[in-house]
Amino acid sequence: MRESMRMNSKKRIGILTGGGDVPPLNAVISAAQQYASLHDCELVGFVGGWQGVLENRTVPLQAVNIDPRIGGTVLKSSRVNLVKIPGAAEQVRINFNKRGLQGLVVVGGEDTLSNSLLVKDIPQVLISKTIDNDVGIIPKDAKGIKLEKIVNYFTLGYPTAARLISRIVSQQYGVRTTAYSHERIMIVESMGMHAGWLALASTMGDPDFIVIPEFPLDYEIFKEAVARKFDEQRHVVAVIAEGAKWKDGSFIAADEHEKDSFGHPRFKGSAAVLAERLKRDLKNRFNTRNVNSINPSYLYRSGEPESLDLRFGKKLGSKAVELLTKGSQDQVFLTLKKSAASFELKPFLLSEIQSIESLHRFVDETLYSDQEFCATDAAKRYLSYIVPEIRRIRYGLKG
Ligand code: F6P
Repeated sequence: MRESMRMNSKKRIGILTGGGDVPPLNAVISAAQQYASLHDCELVGFVGGWQGVLENRTVPLQAVNIDPRIGGTVLKSSRVNLVKIPGAAEQVRINFNKRGLQGLVVVGGEDTLSNSLLVKDIPQVLISKTIDNDVGIIPKDAKGIKLEKIVNYFTLGYPTAARLISRIVSQQYGVRTTAYSHERIMIVESMGMHAGWLALASTMGDPDFIVIPEFPLDYEIFKEAVARKFDEQRHVVAVIAEGAKWKDGSFIAADEHEKDSFGHPRFKGSAAVLAERLKRDLKNRFNTRNVNSINPSYLYRSGEPESLDLRFGKKLGSKAVELLTKGSQDQVFLTLKKSAASFELKPFLLSEIQSIESLHRFVDETLYSDQEFCATDAAKRYLSYIVPEIRRIRYGLKG
């Protein structure tokens, strides 16, 4: 009796984190928890993303001390595709009601958010997170991209990963020092299975070449460009996304047998494959012992969030609970919009789009040149609001 009275008076909101982890997830959860406790609301954490909702596995978040600066997610994560599980939507509804919830905060990438659309009748606030930065809309007109018009300027996790990759390739913090010292060709791999946003971000650290999944690689042209650059400066730094493709459309390095529940293959080292090819094909032109590859892999998703991620992770978490406790009945995607000072939160109703695919964004020719294998000035302008400045320097003798 007392339990049911408590459930009636106090608002209850659920929260889950799905898909690949990113550093600012705990910032979202802790700010959501803080807002809830200040507003007489109970925040119920589902453990392991949508899998936790299916199995009704929860933790009472008021009992957990969440440090917003520690990466990863205290709620854990999973990659479950509800569409493929018979009766999943019904089970989600049952568990949602059993817990006496008024709404759900869903923090995830494209796949996690697509599960939300299966239960449209549940009030939800969606927060996008993925180092892939591939959830949002970039409208264009004849003059190109207006940054203020971008729907969801960045996804949580992207600023931290973008800063890391641009540092890795740079001379100030990264591999260009050993590249010029030992006359190396350094191929650095980025994450990004279908979209090249993370690889593109490396441009802020000034690599010589970038290869992304959206533009299948013309290897012969690339090989010649690398050889020319080597002749010119006696070292090369290139970036390749894990999901990059050959010209015939096949992945450079993927294990199609190890697909996840959304059908995504397991990638297995595009940088290493490309380095091997270059070694083989350029061995008559110079000493190819120093063609090296590096794959930071999960490091892109690890560690503490950088300041933009931390700040907006907190704002998004708190706003999501605010909307739901104030009675929002919709499926709201809480996006980030560029403003004069920084970014502002802007609710976007999911009823405005046909399917989650309409929010899946890719790098196109306004942001990338496949002739020169590099980011355009428009991409650099876009990224300048996300990635802190790195000194652009070239050092070393041609010899
Ligand atoms: O979802 C983002 C992502 O970082 C992809 O770029 C990558 O292929 C994938 O996660 C791999 O993650 P996991 O091994 O956790 O499935």
